[in-house]
Amino acid sequence: MAWSLQPTLELTEKQFSQWRKLLELKTGVHLTDQQKGLLQTTLSIRMRELGFRDCDEYFSQLDEGIEGIVEWYKLVDRIMVQETRFFRDPEALAYVNELLLERIDNQCLDGSFELWSVGCSTGEEPYSLAMVVDSCFESADIEPRYGVTATDISLEALAKGRRAIYKKRHTAQLSEHFRKRYFVSVDEDHDQVCAWLRERVCFAHGNIRDIERSPISGMDIIFCHNMLIYFRKWMRKEILDELVKRLKPQGVLIIAVGEVVDWDNRYVRRLPNDKMQAYVRISD
Ligand SMILES: C[S@@+](CC[C@H](N)C(=O)[O-])C[C@H]1O[C@@H](n2cnc3c(N)ncnc32)[C@H](O)[C@@H]1O
Repeated sequence: MAWSLQPTLELTEKQFSQWRKLLELKTGVHLTDQQKGLLQTTLSIRMRELGFRDCDEYFSQLDEGIEGIVEWYKLVDRIMVQETRFFRDPEALAYVNELLLERIDNQCLDGSFELWSVGCSTGEEPYSLAMVVDSCFESADIEPRYGVTATDISLEALAKGRRAIYKKRHTAQLSEHFRKRYFVSVDEDHDQVCAWLRERVCFAHGNIRDIERSPISGMDIIFCHNMLIYFRKWMRKEILDELVKRLKPQGVLIIAVGEVVDWDNRYVRRLPNDKMQAYVRISD
């Protein structure tokens, strides 16, 4: 039968459970029962591309040496939800703006202002942070000292972030000031983040499941939005506990509203603001 005529793969309950376990073990992402169809479609397409007919055979190939690892990350790229946009959470960005201006005013910046976008997808979030921070230094007319670290498990998303080329209909949503200052036109349909802002953002591969081994620390702002919702509740809390350890004293962890509830950590205090969910690091 021609491939195009083959029906989409039907995973048995046992196979679905195997795939689900593997994905959660390696990435933290927990697939719900409703996502079985999505997984079946993704696997069908990928197996068809590689010429696999047997799903179990493809599954065991992922365990085989370097090639297996490379294939695993290709599959992860397809499975992950990478939806994002510039200024997706304007309240949180307005808070970053306010906090930095206050620190500049009070002359209490502790070296370089360091931010981390966790689960940065294709770059819109870290570049939004970089634009906000850069514009604070610009308006205070002082030497800009800041850096944004942007991590994600998806190699494809990171590559797009580094290229920093976005559709004009997406950059059109930014203020004119930001568009003119931070973008150059590439062609009729695309803009690119200007080189000097790109240099402020360092994209790195990072699986949040391995956060305990991450060398990233000393952050003023950790921005973790719309990633933890794919994890189970207990894992979200464990990850937040680890992120807190990576804040400077007075550093702030900002997550999307409602992404984690009932979480407490003795080293942070929640900021009293209903429109965002942020925690400031208090001294040890
Ligand atoms: C929905 S996007 C959110 C992007 C951005 N933070 C935002 O709010 O617009 C979720 C991102 O989390 C990433 N992700 C999922 N699991 C991850 C993991 N274990 N480690 C690092 N990144 C992960 C995905 O690849 C995806 O790019």
